[in-house]
Amino acid sequence: MFQKDVPIVENVESKPHNFLMTFQDAEIAAKCRVGQFLQFKAGGLENMLRIPISIARVTGDRVSILYHVVGSGTDVMSKLRVGESINVLGPLGNGFPQDIPADKEILFVAGGIGFGPFPYAMDHFSNWKLFYGVRNEAQLLLQDEIAALEKAGKAFVATDDGSYGTQGFVTDLLDAYLAKDSSNKVIFCCGPNPMMKRVCEVAAKHGVESHISMEDYMGCGIGICVGCVRKIRDASKPDGWEHKKVCKDGPVFKGEDILWN
Ligand SMILES: Cc1cc2nc3c(=O)[nH]c(=O)nc-3n(C[C@H](O)[C@H](O)[C@H](O)COP(=O)(O)OP(=O)(O)OC[C@H]3O[C@@H](n4cnc5c(N)ncnc54)[C@H](O)[C@@H]3O)c2cc1C
Ligand code: FES
Repeated sequence: MFQKDVPIVENVESKPHNFLMTFQDAEIAAKCRVGQFLQFKAGGLENMLRIPISIARVTGDRVSILYHVVGSGTDVMSKLRVGESINVLGPLGNGFPQDIPADKEILFVAGGIGFGPFPYAMDHFSNWKLFYGVRNEAQLLLQDEIAALEKAGKAFVATDDGSYGTQGFVTDLLDAYLAKDSSNKVIFCCGPNPMMKRVCEVAAKHGVESHISMEDYMGCGIGICVGCVRKIRDASKPDGWEHKKVCKDGPVFKGEDILWN
């Protein structure tokens, strides 16, 4: 894990309020794994907490992130220019499993800005399909790349308002796909909680293993503050579950182990 100032080489608004930032750092790039995240320091005392963002892509010594401007920290990040630097802590967290057999098809299921970790996953693995749900076309990230993947039969997009792809929930697309053939599949998912909960239900219905990346509120991001705990099933514990830290034990957990209430 590193903590350092890194030079920004790209910070563009690719869709309204959605930015693609790339920084250059060979040491961090060499340590990243699919599904891990970085903690960014943006601004001064007004933004005490670092901002956790998934690693979206690693290309040589360059690391990219996709982020949605929702508050003061991401707003500060969006105003940084090429040539300026940003303080980064990471890579952090466990990431998605790396040891998926090549004959197993990985179904990436992304909701909204939960698409963040998947470009890296798409580069890393070869046998996969992408199921990507957004509210509307304006929220669809890397649209040209996604359109090419759709043409190649690798990606399926759902929008709430039907402005792009199929109108409806991405979980319905997943359900229909698995209804045709659920053998030799595994699901990697990241998105809003209701969507991820539904993905777990669909996965259980079809008997498919799922790995869910949680994007909970975080404090320290390194396992100290206990500000990010989730109830995770553990048969060896008296209650059958224990509190696990999303930042350190996660952010990726097995879908069947997550207690959603
Ligand atoms: C492991 C992990 C990976 C993440 N990856 C990405 C990513 O790739 N791209 C991305 O855009 N965002 C990602 N997030 C969410 C991102 O960290 C928050 O949106 C960000 O911290 C908001 O900071 P802010 O200072 O701009 O907003 P704040 O001022 O802190 O909050 C603004 C608004 O956003 C809400 N909010 C803040 N944090 C979260 C959160 N974690 N979940 C839901 N709502 C939140 C607040 O309730 C408030 O309404 C990730 C979070 C985690 C934990
Ligand atoms: S954010 Fe502090 S322990 Fe997880």
